[in-house]
Amino acid sequence: MSERKTLTVPNEEIVEQKLYIEELKSKLWGKGLTYHIVTYGCQMNVHDSENLAGMLADMGYTETSEQHEADVILFNTCCVRENAELRVYGNIGSLKAYKQANPNRIIGVCGCMMQQSDIADYIKKTFPFVDVIFGTHNLHRFPGLLLQALDSNHTIIEIMDTEGKIVEHIPVKRATGVSAWVTIMYGCNNFCSYCIVPHVRGRERSRRPDDILEEIQTLANEGYKEITLLGQNVNSYGKDLEQNYLFHQLLRDSTKIEGIERIRFMTSHPKDLSDELIYAMAEHGKLSKHIHLPIQSGSNRILRDMNRKYTKEDYLERVKKIRSIMPDISLTTDIIVGFPGETEEDFRETLKLVEQVGYDSAFTFLYSPRKGTPAANKTNQIEQEVKKERLARLNNKLNKSSNERNLIYKDKLVKVLVEGPSKTKEDIYTGRTDTNKIVNFESCPDLVGKLVSIRIKKAQTWSLEGEVVPNG
Ligand code: 5AD
Ligand code: SF4
Repeated sequence: MSERKTLTVPNEEIVEQKLYIEELKSKLWGKGLTYHIVTYGCQMNVHDSENLAGMLADMGYTETSEQHEADVILFNTCCVRENAELRVYGNIGSLKAYKQANPNRIIGVCGCMMQQSDIADYIKKTFPFVDVIFGTHNLHRFPGLLLQALDSNHTIIEIMDTEGKIVEHIPVKRATGVSAWVTIMYGCNNFCSYCIVPHVRGRERSRRPDDILEEIQTLANEGYKEITLLGQNVNSYGKDLEQNYLFHQLLRDSTKIEGIERIRFMTSHPKDLSDELIYAMAEHGKLSKHIHLPIQSGSNRILRDMNRKYTKEDYLERVKKIRSIMPDISLTTDIIVGFPGETEEDFRETLKLVEQVGYDSAFTFLYSPRKGTPAANKTNQIEQEVKKERLARLNNKLNKSSNERNLIYKDKLVKVLVEGPSKTKEDIYTGRTDTNKIVNFESCPDLVGKLVSIRIKKAQTWSLEGEVVPNG
């Protein structure tokens, strides 16, 4: 009989967490085996997957891009909109054949969808070949759950209803060597009436400033040049901390870390975007001149029903203030069309607002009813065809706006942080401006991770093309 694999998985104590990581590294349970993670949804999920990859790497597993070959296949799920959920169901279904081909293979499903207990139960019943199911609040306990799954022939399922304390020092394996995500806070307190996030990610919890700054310092030592501070609403960072320390202070302290050239952040709720933040951004060259500021709708009536707690006038006032201090800033947004009760008149107000702001780009969504949120119970839902027609009109307007905003860059000299080769052509490299514009240009591997001057030759809707200007 094989030796039973056990591991003491800590709940939250840092000392225990460190011992546990040592145990992972010493036992190397996954030596010679491979993993493949499929991630759905936002940057938070992408970063959670980097933590899952870190834990697997500490166990000795190596990554494979071939899903059908992997010994551990993990789906990190998203439930913000229904289509993401439907894709997950379809894709889990197709794993059945893989499991039959190799019954020792472990199939795991985790992330936001699993925080809804009815969905976790549904997956367990419908896809009995899934070995392990866990949620977002117990991500750090994954190695222990994986070992249990390896020893068991029924589904291991662990979902925690409450968020608990923040667990620091979770292993991490980041995707690139230039730019890194750093989570500064978890959860959301806003309860927008359409949104499932506060229900699955819990209340706002800010990481301690020292822990964040230490992580950024480590990243700088490892050679990372850019960091993106992540949170559902970074503007309310620190409000739950005992010490008096807010987001703009964290940004200012982050700029002091040598080696980090650029600091980005997302997402900002318009109601919490403070003047102090705007001044900090204007003052510090390292703070990226880009704000992602989701408007969601241009109609005050819909904004009220969405529980967004600002009017379009408040929003436009913020934009005016930002641009009066940083005229070249790039502004991006999220917009939902077809929220319950949205009339043609309401929708036209959104189109008008888009024109007034002149966005650099936007993510646009068809409203998707989410069980458990107030908007899903409304009886005045909008027909899918109407939603789609509005989305097409909105995207049309936004594309024109993106194109116009990009044309401003033509013939200009910009500083680009080189990320790596482009996916399409050899010798073509890609990077981003301070304002988060993608720039493609002819280059060589030597420039990866460097800030280079580029003269923009061509502006397209989604990207810019340019030429490196040596010593520019
Ligand atoms: N339907 C459509 N879009 C949604 N979003 C959040 N919840 C929903 C929903 N139920 C969008 C919002 C948010 C972005 C991350 O996802 O625009 O800003
Ligand atoms: Fe969802 Fe609103 Fe929180 Fe954003 S601010 S995560 S839209 S509830």
